[in-house]
Amino acid sequence: MMEEAQYFAPVNQDEHGEVTVELAKSHPGFADPIYRKRRNDIARLALNHRRGDPVPVAEYTPEEHEVWRLVSRELAAKHRRYAIREFLDAKERLALPEDRIPQLQEVSDRLESLTGFRYLPAAGLVPLREFYGSLADSYFHSTQYIRHHTVPFYTPEPDVIHEVLGHGNTLASDRFAELYRVAGRAARRVESQEALEFVSKVFWFTLEFGVMTEGDELKAYGAGILSSYGEIEEFRKMDIRPLDLAAMGTTQYDITKYQVVLFRAESMDHLEDVAGTFWDTCDDESIARITRSTVGT
Ligand code: TRP
Ligand code: FE
Repeated sequence: MMEEAQYFAPVNQDEHGEVTVELAKSHPGFADPIYRKRRNDIARLALNHRRGDPVPVAEYTPEEHEVWRLVSRELAAKHRRYAIREFLDAKERLALPEDRIPQLQEVSDRLESLTGFRYLPAAGLVPLREFYGSLADSYFHSTQYIRHHTVPFYTPEPDVIHEVLGHGNTLASDRFAELYRVAGRAARRVESQEALEFVSKVFWFTLEFGVMTEGDELKAYGAGILSSYGEIEEFRKMDIRPLDLAAMGTTQYDITKYQVVLFRAESMDHLEDVAGTFWDTCDDESIARITRSTVGT
């Protein structure tokens, strides 16, 4: 289906090993030759990486560190207002630097000591089965480039800010780390592409874009909301629906815009009961049954 992660710019490698990332004309970095060279260089690092080797060092420019500083500062204030407690506590434990982009390997080492999760570098699109399946082994595939400095508050393309300030902070929580692993095991267990897409959509509407009741407020725990200081100001105005597997697995979404339909868990326990139990037990047949119940055929 079309949701299959088309937000990644295609990465090509020619017979001389030359790597080119194809940015769309609408990409804010399209007409910026320095940015394009950065994207090519960073993609090449990931393409040459072999599992078991340390994550390659990406030498960031002063301008790139400045984007991180700005976004970290903006997000620090917004997280305090809008992120759930579980995330804030995990973020404190991970203690990421705010004044520079950390290397993926140093974040990986720290995460590994906290919850067992490790980063692998991704040049671009990682196939669904591989991306989600690796979570079962506590591996998280991550981009290393940073968003263009002209649009720091939101990017439709996952970048190191999303992977680290969003997912990394979340993965420093034992409860979330376990949920990611359970989702990974589900992705390995199901066989059909339809069932895999259903599993990934439940992930999308929970671990990427989930919101949660805390006290009498609506907070966010999805990494996609927590890495965008534009989107995090908007989620409370969206169409907020009760956490429901059939609905999450079949609702359409547009990956290029702020998410307009969000699903609300009532607590961490509730999220684990619904999404965790689903991933823990689902198979092709149970997913087909859930899908049929919504389509009404
Ligand atoms: N919009 C997110 C941000 O600005 C990053 C992002 C891009 C993303 N694509 C995504 C998040 C897909 C979740 C899912 O930080
Ligand atoms: Fe993500």
